[in-house]
Amino acid sequence: LANGLAATPPMGWSSWNHFGCFIDEKIIRETADALVSTGLAKLGYKFVNIETLSSDDCWAEISRDEKGSLVPKNSTFPSGVKALADYVHSKGLKLGIYSDAGYFTCSKKMPGSLGHEEHDAKTFAKWGIDYLKYDNCNNDGSKPTVRYPVMTRALMNAGHPIFFSLCEWGDMHPALWGASMGNSWRTTNDIADNWDSMISRADQNEVYAEYARPGGWNDPDMLEVGNGGMTKDEYIIHFSLWAISKAPLLVGCDVRNVTKETMEIIANKEVIGVNQDKLGVQGKKVRMEGDLEVWAGPLSGYRVAVVLLNRGPQQHREMTARWDDIGIPPGSTVMARDLWQHKTLKQRFVDVLTATVDSHACKMYILKPIS
Ligand code: GLA
Repeated sequence: LANGLAATPPMGWSSWNHFGCFIDEKIIRETADALVSTGLAKLGYKFVNIETLSSDDCWAEISRDEKGSLVPKNSTFPSGVKALADYVHSKGLKLGIYSDAGYFTCSKKMPGSLGHEEHDAKTFAKWGIDYLKYDNCNNDGSKPTVRYPVMTRALMNAGHPIFFSLCEWGDMHPALWGASMGNSWRTTNDIADNWDSMISRADQNEVYAEYARPGGWNDPDMLEVGNGGMTKDEYIIHFSLWAISKAPLLVGCDVRNVTKETMEIIANKEVIGVNQDKLGVQGKKVRMEGDLEVWAGPLSGYRVAVVLLNRGPQQHREMTARWDDIGIPPGSTVMARDLWQHKTLKQRFVDVLTATVDSHACKMYILKPIS
């Protein structure tokens, strides 16, 4: 969507994966503080998404007020959203919220925005909301391509720029139509904090690589890194694949209590740099041989990002990135930077780069032709 808001994929935090519905304004304030104190904000994690005022789905009261406006839950958001937005903005961050293109949100508790699009968009703008995630539950049975653009237009007229995240779960292939309506679109059902869920979302999202571009991104759902259900290597795969896929990087753990191990992953500047590269081309699978996959995508400056991924149970598999698979001219001599070792390899590579990759692990490089 040409609203100037998503030249690169959005980065930030969302309450849903870790907190579900158990959230309040104190957690949001503390999270904003933590994004700043950990240095994550400086790395680009700017959005603080209450996927609705009491987590994703639980921020609002059950009824609208007499003027027809959504009302934040008094029990959990007593200061209101405007005050929270002011606080978050004062930290140099942005506030996100959640609603639904139906009569009720997915939890069936909160009112949705169907039929109230203009009013709600104005309310969000007045509060200073910067990001809207728009779910698809409990709708009237009409196509999302009918309901979503009503909110797109309402946001365009609301007077405050709002990143628009379409949460249609991929059922009607939103990659095919999302670009004119939103800044990102979910290509998959909800992620869970385990290997099968994570890797299958990466696969489903990869199919739509051609549709991602600056202004509109494929969204395989939010990050689970730091929530405890995967090994460190699996979380490294999760972060590497989301980065090379130009997916939104929305951290889903409790950043107030983030561990050193989690920080090593989500604060990896070089991997973030791949995600945020200005070229904005989604990487994809360029070779699949059983459990071994090579993912690659072009970056600015003739560089190429590569992930060598071993999805299988066998350790120490030898893997090769071939120039003709990844779009480097044959015969080129290439310099390789290992983004997880934070090392530029001494060796120069011609036509291929070969490495050993362990079970459920990956290597990630930026390759730069030098002659
Ligand atoms: C849907 C969305 C999730 C989350 C929940 C909240 O399932 O796909 O991302 O927002 O609703 O209820």
